[in-house]
Amino acid sequence: MTDNASKSPAANGQGQAMWGGRFSAKPAELMQAINVSIGFDKRLWAQDLAGSRAHARMLISQGVIASSDGEEILEGLAKIEDELATGTFPFRDEYEDIHMNIEARLRELIGPTAGRLHTARSRNDQVAVDFRLWVRDAADRSAAQLEALQKALLAQAETYADALMPGFTHLQPAQPVTFGHHLMAYVEMFGRDASRFKDARARMNECPLGAAALAGSPFPIDRHQTAASLGFDRPTANSLDSVSSRDFALEALSAASITATHLSRLAEEIVLWTTPMFGFIKLTDAFTTGSSIMPQKKNPDAAELIRAKVGRILGSLTTLTVVMKGLPLAYSKDMQEDKVPTFEAFDALELSLLAMAGMIADLTPNTEKMAAAAGAGFSTATDLADWLVRELNMPFRDAHHVTGSAVKAAETKGVDLSDLSLAEFQAIEPRITDGVYAVLTPAASAASRMSYGGTAPAQVRAQIARWKETLA
Ligand code: ARG
Repeated sequence: MTDNASKSPAANGQGQAMWGGRFSAKPAELMQAINVSIGFDKRLWAQDLAGSRAHARMLISQGVIASSDGEEILEGLAKIEDELATGTFPFRDEYEDIHMNIEARLRELIGPTAGRLHTARSRNDQVAVDFRLWVRDAADRSAAQLEALQKALLAQAETYADALMPGFTHLQPAQPVTFGHHLMAYVEMFGRDASRFKDARARMNECPLGAAALAGSPFPIDRHQTAASLGFDRPTANSLDSVSSRDFALEALSAASITATHLSRLAEEIVLWTTPMFGFIKLTDAFTTGSSIMPQKKNPDAAELIRAKVGRILGSLTTLTVVMKGLPLAYSKDMQEDKVPTFEAFDALELSLLAMAGMIADLTPNTEKMAAAAGAGFSTATDLADWLVRELNMPFRDAHHVTGSAVKAAETKGVDLSDLSLAEFQAIEPRITDGVYAVLTPAASAASRMSYGGTAPAQVRAQIARWKETLA
């Protein structure tokens, strides 16, 4: 280690260490304040080290740098990894970002040889590969967490495949369904969400390293080697695109936003179902909080927060879209603003997915209350109309009209459809027989819906079996 190398560039009076050559004065404090990104891009340290290692090994095997220099660099990077992993790495604002912090530290540890690492590389392709690696991991984690959530839903759906509940349209009682069927609707949504992350991953899995500043490199680099060693399918095919594009992050954020939208819908249902007016489910103390003034309260805060997180996540997609809009090729510093919204969005999504999976496993339905609600609100009226079509060969529109009259009669009397006497039914339509009562219970209604994907417990079980196999 040389004497000079151990001094910070500010102490040397050279301005910034990495690019200070042509500068005679230090940047204004405000310039530094707006420019510095180490406070947030330190989260890319593992990716930055991985990229540097892959690059150094390639430079060695291509003979661009001497093996002895390359080995020194790799040993230095290993020490830096140690410092970063144990929390002893000295992060310094004067080195601006994670790339220059690590390179400056490398110079302190091994001396001027450190400067050879940046041969055939620019921070533009460096940050592009770091960020892509980070987003790729985030997409993988999200897909895995979605699958864990699906498994939690599947377990409850299997237990409650026959448990009746009201199905709603317009949040008005519509037709009886089963709780298992309702939960399985979310298994489908989250399955598509996971597949969106996998699709995004496949498209993003090209390596921008080696694009250098924007035009490629005059050194005999092997971009296929670095791509393969970082787990990419291939190198990106246009150097300008490589350093300018962040659509991989936009796509991941868009998948995150759609996932968050689905989570917020399920969260809203949990909020509704836990309110005593519904009383469909109970959460334990593990996923509720009390009130500091109202002793009776058990609030579903986790569900409410998940319902809200979509704001932050969709906000991040909007932020990055607006940052990227209208940027000329190739790299512009605007793109440094890609990280905070992306980190924030995935932090929020990850927490939401974990908390939702926890809440789903935690909940217990009140099956009696749900079943009672399933029969309320004349929810088997469609079954009556279908019976009239099937048994009396009525056109559906006529059957709909007759059923409407029956609902009106029951409503006037203050009873359910199944409480009307046969005489009362026959006063509306003389051909009705007592066979009609068999279709007027919620259980019969649900069991009759045997069409593929319908709510009949047998159909629900078939879908559960299919998903269990898919997720196994
Ligand atoms: N901190 C920068 C970023 O996040 C790294 C790339 C800087 N490149 C440059 N030419 N100044 O985008």
